[in-house]
Amino acid sequence: MKMKELLLFLSCVVCVSADALHTDIHVIGCSDFNGEVMFGLDREELWYADFEKQMGVSPQPSFIDPISFGAGAYKTAVSNLNTCRQNLQITREGIKDFPPLRDAPSGVMIYTRDEMELRVNNTLICHVTGFYPAPVKVSWTKNGRITTEGSSINTPYPNKNGTFTQIARLKFIPQQGDVYSCTVEHLALTKPLIKIYNVETPETPEKPKPSVGPAVFCGLGVIIGLLSAAGGTFFILKANKSI
Ligand SMILES: *[C@@H]1O[C@H](CO)[C@@H](O)[C@H](O)[C@H]1NC(C)=O
Ligand SMILES: *[C@@H]1O[C@H](CO)[C@@H](O)[C@H](O)[C@H]1NC(C)=O
Repeated sequence: MKMKELLLFLSCVVCVSADALHTDIHVIGCSDFNGEVMFGLDREELWYADFEKQMGVSPQPSFIDPISFGAGAYKTAVSNLNTCRQNLQITREGIKDFPPLRDAPSGVMIYTRDEMELRVNNTLICHVTGFYPAPVKVSWTKNGRITTEGSSINTPYPNKNGTFTQIARLKFIPQQGDVYSCTVEHLALTKPLIKIYNVETPETPEKPKPSVGPAVFCGLGVIIGLLSAAGGTFFILKANKSI
């Protein structure tokens, strides 16, 4: 159990060993304003509670035949959230000075999910990691204007060192010259972190000229080797003769 500032996260990690090692995770976390209840497997979300829309969400595509968490899962999540808030209150009264620990995101990356091709549907990804407490707020712009259509963000995923990772996505169709940005806001940041993505057709990489260097050196080596051998034989012959 980790406890810092306003956020109290209880998480339970179960490792199942079969052919490979899989990590099953259940996160229950809360602050005064935020909460998270999530089940994950190998860094993917299987199910999470969307407390704004008041429903459970299974974000896995249907072809993987996702595990069902049952109709009561959302209700259970709400009750877990309430317990978490009560625990938070008890802890806050018990420990007068909550250590004011805050870690700003240590890494923000922007990239496309698929290799970029003009006019072909793609997804921009803004990967934010190394922050505490959760969550971060990620917003998108297209050519300087805020855009929300087709955007989503996953629930905070705990890292091994107690910080979190969140991945925001924006569906987009690359058009020559468009500029996208993702803006990351967090408690520990005095100003937002911004990453830019420019849609540019990749220049056709110049075909490297077939290099002759190593082959020539190699040839030279062989020739010198042969010459030395010939020279050696000559001296041996010469030595034999002079005996
Ligand atoms: C591309 O995305 C648009 C919405 O952004 C959608 O309506 C369309 O069906 C998608 N096309 C393909 C080929 O997936
Ligand atoms: C914690 O781990 C994340 C990635 O797992 C890393 O980016 C971050 O720098 C680490 N933070 C600290 C304080 O070690």
